[in-house]
Amino acid sequence: MEITQRPRRLRGNDVLRKMVREVRMDKSSLIYPMFVREGSNIKEEIPSMPGQYRYSVDRMEEKLTELCDAGVCSVMFFGIPDKKDELGSGAYAQDGIVQKAFRKARQVCPDLYLIGDVCMCEYTSHGHCGVLCGQEVDNDRTLELLAKTAVSQAQAGADMVAPSDMMDGRVAHIRKALDGNGYVNVPIMSYAVKFASSFYGPFRDAAGSAPSFGDRKSYQMDYHNRREAWKEALLDVQEGADILMVKPAMAYGDLIREIKERTHVPVAAYSVSGEYAMVKAAAQSGYIDEELVMCELAVGAYRAGCDIYITYFAEGLAKCMDKGIIG
Ligand code: PBG
Repeated sequence: MEITQRPRRLRGNDVLRKMVREVRMDKSSLIYPMFVREGSNIKEEIPSMPGQYRYSVDRMEEKLTELCDAGVCSVMFFGIPDKKDELGSGAYAQDGIVQKAFRKARQVCPDLYLIGDVCMCEYTSHGHCGVLCGQEVDNDRTLELLAKTAVSQAQAGADMVAPSDMMDGRVAHIRKALDGNGYVNVPIMSYAVKFASSFYGPFRDAAGSAPSFGDRKSYQMDYHNRREAWKEALLDVQEGADILMVKPAMAYGDLIREIKERTHVPVAAYSVSGEYAMVKAAAQSGYIDEELVMCELAVGAYRAGCDIYITYFAEGLAKCMDKGIIG
């Protein structure tokens, strides 16, 4: 048979397949999201996220060391306070849970890169991502509190802040507050393209942050929209965002690609709690191979164009890179 082009020639063995891989990944691009809570000597499993835990500050060290040993160098903290109030004051308290976590992490693992999620929903009694005015989230009043939160995280030792609230103008506001307090070198990774997604369910169980009424559709994006995603991304770059995030990752590969092509900043993809939970549940039922599906999802996000991948599977992926399954 005369066939000039035989694509199979480059798939003949493992060395060759690896030689011609188009996507290369590196452990340094992984960020692990971690839940920290008040209390002592607590490591409690999150029921809808098997293998993920809420840690009290005194129990964080074991996990942080494990991450470092696996080669995962960046962690993003989510705080779970004991008390919540209307104004989410725990988010910007000097001795707030996340602030305590930063100080502890800095002390036990000085080389870890520490990122703070900046949002109000884990700290407000109503579970919304900002201050309420009636039944609505008041955008402009919320900006002040977000800026305070970002500054207090930087004061506690955060290397980077990541606002996830989806208020308009927050990147500019946070930038100004950080600069005004001497934190000109603390980058902002903006959750610029964040959708009102049902994939966040397990996270809200983990953080107790589900809204007590209504939903987040008046501030998070409608997932039918693509051009609006560029609008959000371009606005955030103008406002001073250093890194843009697309969230969730799994059903949003098209947007990861477009944001990558239309901007000149690094792009992060957040593979969220629901993605993790689906893989775990299907694997536990014996329907899929957990490790291989985890790898395939990660490569899919990198192939779509992300530079940074935020995932509860960070440690497992790092190990698969060591084993050469992906990388
Ligand atoms: C806070 C926040 C959420 C997530 C990250 N930051 C929840 C939400 O917006 O309801 C979700 C992360 C995940 O599902 O893993 N606003």
